[in-house]
Amino acid sequence: MNKKKLVVLSGAGISAESGISTFRDANGLWEGYDIMEVASPIGWGNNRALVLDFYNKRRKNVIESKPNGAHHVLVELEKHFDVLIITQNVDDLHERAGSTNVLHLHGEIRKARSTINPELIYDVDGWELNEGDLCHLGSQLRPHIVWFGEEVPLIESAINIVQKADCLLIVGTSLLVYPAAGLIQFANREIPKYYIDPNPAEVREVANLKIIKKKGTEGMKELFELIIK
Ligand code: OAD
Repeated sequence: MNKKKLVVLSGAGISAESGISTFRDANGLWEGYDIMEVASPIGWGNNRALVLDFYNKRRKNVIESKPNGAHHVLVELEKHFDVLIITQNVDDLHERAGSTNVLHLHGEIRKARSTINPELIYDVDGWELNEGDLCHLGSQLRPHIVWFGEEVPLIESAINIVQKADCLLIVGTSLLVYPAAGLIQFANREIPKYYIDPNPAEVREVANLKIIKKKGTEGMKELFELIIK
């Protein structure tokens, strides 16, 4: 029998308990940095070293972090559902927990890509990507991250996945960044929807939405009980 499709939209909050900062909470990353300086094509044009250093620090933090209970529950759920994760996160904690189907809407920090051909993507060896690290055609490599002001190439694939969901789970996201935040509007009205977040955004005009106002680890345990029974 085909399993039902559980589609998950995850954000920075799911990795918070692994020790990776969110962006917009108190002490979040965007409090300490200017987004346009470190996460935009303009910033890259102005100061490559600053951008590379910002992502090197993030990459080191990711490599040193481990998946937490919330990531692990999603793996456990694969026994019961066809779990399709659409993550805004650039870390690889879903994969390292063992999730088998993960789409990275905003890129992957442990990868680099060519500045002349976006299809040339490489694994970063270790945590540093520096000026002078080149693609095999000789151009500077940049972090494989979708920056502000850039297209989100996988958004159409993500919309297709959400449209086929039998159940939608949103976890650890402020739902402030588009087009990712708009994905929930593509889910079928009738399907059950859950949103786990200790400080959830106000969500309007989304039917059948249950809010679980808890941190990821605790909230995922509660969700597991709810949807498995
Ligand atoms: P935000 O930092 O905007 O939101 C984090 C969310 O996680 C908030 O709603 C918090 O309440 C929640 N949160 C905090 N601790 C949590 C915990 N322990 N368990 C569960 N939730 C918790 O992060 P995102 O919504 O992911 O883009 O941000 C979206 C995008 O903005 C990111 O992908 C990034 C950023 O700029 C790029 O880097 C391209």
